Amino acid sequence: MTVSLQAMLGLLCLASPIVAQKLDAAAAACQFLDSSIGNGTVLPTDGRYRNLTEANWVQTAWALPTCIIQPITAEDLSEAVKHLVAEDVHFAVRSGGHSPVPLGANIDEGGVLIDMSNFNTVEYHANSSVAVVGSGLRWGEVYTQLDPYNVTVVGGRILDVGVGGLILGSGLSYLSDLYGLACDNVVNFEVVLADGSIVNANAGSNSDLWWSLKGGANNFGIVTRFTLTTYPIGNIWGGVKAYTLDALPALFDAMLEYQSVAEKDPYANLMLQAFPLNATLGVVLNMVYMKPEESPSAFEAFYDIETIADTTQIQSLTSFLASQQAPSLPRLDWFATSFKPDAGLYKTVAETLTSAPELSEIQNLTAGSIAIGWQPISTSAIEAGNARGGNALGLDCANQTWLVIDVGWWDEGDDDTANGATLSMIDKIEAASQGTGNYVDYIFMNDASVEQPVIEHYGPENLAKLRDVQRVHDPDLVFQKLVPGGFKIPV
Ligand SMILES: Cc1cc2nc3c(=O)[nH]c(=O)nc-3n(C[C@H](O)[C@H](O)[C@H](O)COP(=O)(O)OP(=O)(O)OC[C@H]3O[C@@H](n4cnc5c(N)ncnc54)[C@H](O)[C@@H]3O)c2cc1C
Ligand SMILES: *[C@@H]1O[C@H](CO)[C@@H](O)[C@H](O)[C@H]1NC(C)=O
Ligand SMILES: *[C@@H]1O[C@H](CO)[C@@H](O)[C@H](O)[C@H]1NC(C)=O
Ligand SMILES: *[C@@H]1O[C@H](CO)[C@@H](O)[C@H](O)[C@H]1NC(C)=O
Ligand SMILES: *[C@@H]1O[C@H](CO)[C@@H](O)[C@H](O)[C@H]1NC(C)=O
Ligand SMILES: *[C@@H]1O[C@H](CO)[C@@H](O)[C@H](O)[C@H]1NC(C)=O
Ligand SMILES: *[C@@H]1O[C@H](CO)[C@@H](O)[C@H](O)[C@H]1NC(C)=O
Ligand SMILES: *[C@@H]1O[C@H](CO)[C@@H](O)[C@H](O)[C@H]1NC(C)=O
Repeated sequence: MTVSLQAMLGLLCLASPIVAQKLDAAAAACQFLDSSIGNGTVLPTDGRYRNLTEANWVQTAWALPTCIIQPITAEDLSEAVKHLVAEDVHFAVRSGGHSPVPLGANIDEGGVLIDMSNFNTVEYHANSSVAVVGSGLRWGEVYTQLDPYNVTVVGGRILDVGVGGLILGSGLSYLSDLYGLACDNVVNFEVVLADGSIVNANAGSNSDLWWSLKGGANNFGIVTRFTLTTYPIGNIWGGVKAYTLDALPALFDAMLEYQSVAEKDPYANLMLQAFPLNATLGVVLNMVYMKPEESPSAFEAFYDIETIADTTQIQSLTSFLASQQAPSLPRLDWFATSFKPDAGLYKTVAETLTSAPELSEIQNLTAGSIAIGWQPISTSAIEAGNARGGNALGLDCANQTWLVIDVGWWDEGDDDTANGATLSMIDKIEAASQGTGNYVDYIFMNDASVEQPVIEHYGPENLAKLRDVQRVHDPDLVFQKLVPGGFKIPV
């Protein structure tokens, strides 16, 4: 009894000074920042604290930081970073908070959350066809402010999603087959680096950083503003076609045909979502053509399949996007894999997605649900990215599908089962795509679980370059060590 009590005290004595030191350092930093940066800090005693800690889209990403700061200017952000680095305090960066990665855009006690929501302006420069967009905005605010000028940018497909995380994780848009990914369309990043300097990264200045931020996530600095190329936009034809679950085999055949035509029309874009555990939701096909042309021939393969609902119509792109619903689930994660179109493979994938035993494991959980997202990407998207200076992603110049499996559930105690079952389905699909020679060595960060080695798959050359660039702009590896959350460059 006495011995074990002493042993316990011994352990406590060893552990507590380090923990206490970390908590004290964060608390002291919060106090300092409260009086030194313009907008103050939000402490746990503040009425706004709880809402702000729960502003991340899913509960799995909620946390309890020592304080939250909401800087308004790049200069204030720079002061804050300098202080946090000098005091060795951990921090996290949040823009829209739509990533489900636990502690990716939030942090627990002993750390400071930097909330970017005050970087919220959109400036349109008609003379140079660019828009300067604050990283804390949601895409809906960006599109709505550009609509009066009849221009748009390559950004998110759901209006609520944040600008910062989506672009830094590459960014898939309905405009990607035309103009590349969202990151490909950044002509300048304004970034606060680890030493507090505020720099521009573009083709002419800090071009290594410009390239690295196109897929480099939060490994290099905090982006305050993105200068994005704008494109003219008028009305489009688009909407949602809904199907019963038993239409899935026909839909996969149509998808293959759509992806295999001799000349893929880049104005045509799709995202198929299937809910194999929920017959009420069935299958939802988001279909959009970037011109005001009804039922264009690019989607011919789908027109014979019987729908149970169809909202396709000529409308503005923003109103089409506003009709796209985001699910609302307390706990959620997602896993991504990529492969080339192939009839045999699509049959195996369809089978796995509708009858794998893992589905019953998920169905068995309280509010266990699953959504399969099928996102076709054409070589034209990859070529458009290369033509705009290239990115860090290491994409294979092939027509491909970026598949995502979303899993939702209710209880924290089910986290491991939900994630394990979904990862196991992804492993089966990867085995099938590798077996048929159709595997594409790319994991789409914005749809990936943090358990997946995303940056590892950018390819050895890109990985080496990212490491070199990181050492130039952040020699002490602050963003590697003091910003632990999110997708990190493997050390
Ligand atoms: C409903 C829904 C729809 C989606 N649709 C799309 C889509 O159409 N296309 C697509 O590509 N993705 C899509 N995504 C995925 C989305 O792009 C990612 O989840 C992305 O991380 C969200 O960006 P955010 O700013 O909201 O993220 P946050 O959760 O705020 O941040 C995500 C990560 O980025 C880092 N980060 C954020 N801002 C900065 C910054 N300014 N500087 C440095 N690091 C930063 C954070 O530290 C964190 O690690 C969707 C997600 C949801 C929930
Ligand atoms: C910071 O300022 C913005 C407005 O500029 C305000 O909405 C926000 O609540 C402020 N936050 C804090 C912590 O004072
Ligand atoms: C917190 O959010 C809820 C709903 O999301 C809202 O009703 C409430 O007013 C908010 N509280 C504060 C202090 O902002
Ligand atoms: C473009 O317009 C902006 C204001 O909208 C102005 O500040 C800038 O100088 C102009 N650039 C050129 C090249 O005319
Ligand atoms: C945008 O398009 C509409 C409809 O074609 C037109 O009436 C309007 O003048 C355009 N606005 C600008 C700024 O070009
Ligand atoms: C991709 O598909 C397009 C047509 O859909 C085709 O023209 C092109 O050759 C394909 N690219 C590759 C690398 O197979
Ligand atoms: C299916 O989805 C609907 C609509 O979101 C929801 O109300 C219902 O509870 C879900 N059913 C199951 C079995 O999850
Ligand atoms: C479903 O849950 C029950 C009780 O928790 C368990 O006994 C059973 O094995 C589970 N079934 C599956 C398929 O996981």
